[in-house]
Amino acid sequence: MEREIITTADGSKTIHIKDWDEQYHSKHGAVQEAYHVFIKKGLDLYKNQELRILEIGFGTGLNAFITLLETEARKLTISYTGVEAYPVSKEEILELDYVKKLEATAHSGEFELLHSVPWNEEVEINNCFSLKKEKKFFDQIENIEDFDLIYFDAFGARVQPELWTVQIFDKMYKSLKQGGVLVTYSAKGSVRRAMQEVGFTVERLPGPPGKREMLRARK
Ligand SMILES: C[S@@+](CC[C@H](N)C(=O)[O-])C[C@H]1O[C@@H](n2cnc3c(N)ncnc32)[C@H](O)[C@@H]1O
Repeated sequence: MEREIITTADGSKTIHIKDWDEQYHSKHGAVQEAYHVFIKKGLDLYKNQELRILEIGFGTGLNAFITLLETEARKLTISYTGVEAYPVSKEEILELDYVKKLEATAHSGEFELLHSVPWNEEVEINNCFSLKKEKKFFDQIENIEDFDLIYFDAFGARVQPELWTVQIFDKMYKSLKQGGVLVTYSAKGSVRRAMQEVGFTVERLPGPPGKREMLRARK
């Protein structure tokens, strides 16, 4: 499918898939959305502990990188698993220029590592953040009671409805420890009902700029 790099409202870049008219992040601000949905409403629930995170759609690595940047201040030790079936190219990663946008040149070596580590191998990126990128489809996830937090960041239900179903959320539910949390930018009623059907308790929270609400689900 044809892709292009676009600049979103907060000045950060993302990938636009022309055939679907769908982006990897919100047009209203890629970095802003990532911080709001995944850090403020997800990661901020935890401090001073070991944490296992599953990301649904590693994509550009933006969520993984901002999580790494936020790890030390929260005294966390994070094992981060990013599942991705269609890796983003090196050229696109360079063009997105997230290190500069996030004023994180001190962490550029870690950013490069996030993208260069081999697939399907857990690698220590620094002393409080390890990463395992798994190259596979979401419906192949079979973890049981393994994660504390899920960043559910699939493309929207408009273009990939098969990823917002009872079948997928059942896998997410099973992969979480008791008390585990899933956050997503979506606030669709059908998504909320699918989450509830598999056993999640679901909250509607204020969304990032450009979006009234988002969902947070707890096992
Ligand atoms: C919205 S983007 C993720 C953005 C990413 N979290 C980031 O920070 O850049 C959704 C991702 O899911 C991947 N994807 C789509 N369908 C998939 C599937 N069935 N299994 C695994 N990955 C899939 C896409 O390649 C894309 O990278």
